[in-house]
Amino acid sequence: MELNTDGIIGQSTTLASVFRMLGKVAPTDSTVLVTGESGTGKELLVRALHANSKRAAKPFVPINCGAIPKELLESELFGHEKGAFTHAIRSRSGRFELADGGTVFLDEIGEMDLALQVKILRVLQEKEIERVGGNGVKKIDVRIVAATNRDLENEVAAGNFREDLYYRLNVIPLHLPPLRERGGDVLLLARNFLERFCGKKNRPLLKFSPLVEKILTAYDWPGNVRELENVMERLSILADGDTVQPDDMPPKILRRLGDIGAPADETADTPEASTPDEFTRVVAAPAQDRTETRARPPAGEFVWPVLADLERAGMDLKTFLDAAESRLMDEALARSGNVKNLAAEFLGIKRTTLIEKLRKRNML
Ligand SMILES: Nc1ncnc2c1ncn2[C@@H]1O[C@H](COP(=O)(O)OP(=O)(O)OP(=O)(O)O)[C@@H](O)[C@H]1O
Ligand SMILES: [Mg+2]
Repeated sequence: MELNTDGIIGQSTTLASVFRMLGKVAPTDSTVLVTGESGTGKELLVRALHANSKRAAKPFVPINCGAIPKELLESELFGHEKGAFTHAIRSRSGRFELADGGTVFLDEIGEMDLALQVKILRVLQEKEIERVGGNGVKKIDVRIVAATNRDLENEVAAGNFREDLYYRLNVIPLHLPPLRERGGDVLLLARNFLERFCGKKNRPLLKFSPLVEKILTAYDWPGNVRELENVMERLSILADGDTVQPDDMPPKILRRLGDIGAPADETADTPEASTPDEFTRVVAAPAQDRTETRARPPAGEFVWPVLADLERAGMDLKTFLDAAESRLMDEALARSGNVKNLAAEFLGIKRTTLIEKLRKRNML
C-alpha cells in the first residue's frame, strides 16, 4: 500500500525514517507510542497512522488525557451507567465504544493517573471495557495509539507511570525529532507555511532574505513546528515589501540568538575590560543612549564618531577602531549563537577573516 503522508512536510533523513516506520506499522493493529517535544507534529502523525490503516473508514477518536479533569476521564473513556455517580442521570457510552472498529488516540498519556492506567492496561490486554457503575464487561475492537511529550522512562523511574503499561504501549515507538534536528526541513516548512498564509490573505508570496534564512536555520525552535507556523503567520501579516528582513523577525528570536552566545559574551569582557568607561558611554553605546550627549539624529541615520569622542575617551584612532571591531564581532557572535559562519555573514566578511581577527584578539 502506498503511504499517504499528506500534509506532513519534510525531507530530512530523520523524518524519512519515521515515515518508513509509519509505512510498516500503519496497516497492522499494533499499539504505537508516539513521543516528541511539544509541537513536533505528534497528532498529525497519529492521524496519518489512522488514515493509512485498514481502520481508516472507521472513527478516529482522540482524547487529551491532560485536558480532562481526572475524575471525568474514566467515564469519558469507558462510559457510565445511569446512577453511577451524582450527575449520571442516564447511561452513556465512552470513547472506546464510540471508536468501535477504529482508533482511539490517547494524547498526553503521561498525564493520566495511576488508577486509570491499570484500566487502560486491561483494555490493551483483554480488549474489553467496563462502564463506570456497570456490572459487566464488553468486548471492543479498537486500536490504541498514545502520545506524550514526557520521557515515560523517567516517569516510570519516578513512580508516576506504570512500568507494565509503558512496555505494553511501547510495542512500536515512533519518535518525532525536534525541529532543530531536521536540517533543511526548517526552510521547507517555513516556505510552505508562508505560502499558505500569504495565499489565505491574498498577498503576493513573500521571500526570505539570505540573512533571514540563516536566522531561521540557526534558531533552535523550542516550540518546534507549531512555533515556526505561528512565526510565518505573523510574518504574513506584519512584513512589509516582498522580502522578509531580519527586522521583521520576532524580537524574541533575535534576542535568543544573542543569548545563547554565552562563550562570546564572556570573551567580550576581556579585550574591552580595560577600555575606559567613557568609551562605552559615549561612543559605543546603543544609539538611543547617545541622545544624552548629542542631538538625536534623524530616524535611522547612523551617527559617526567625531574627534571629540576620541578625545573624551582618551583613545587614539587605532585603539578606537580595534575596540569598535571587537564589539561588533562580539555582537555578531552572540546573535549567531556563536556560529562563526553566520557571525561572519552578519558582519559581511569571510569566515576565515573573522577567525583570523578573533585569534589575534584571543577571542577564540
Ligand atoms: N511535518 C509537518 N508538516 C506540516 N505541518 C506540521 C508538521 N508537523 C507539525 N505540523 C503542524 O504544527 C502544528 C503542531 O502539530 P501537532 O499538534 O501535531 O504537534 P504535537 O506534537 O501534537 O504538539 P503538542 O505536544 O503540543 O500537542 C499543527 O498545526 C500541525 O499541523
Ligand atoms: Mg498534540
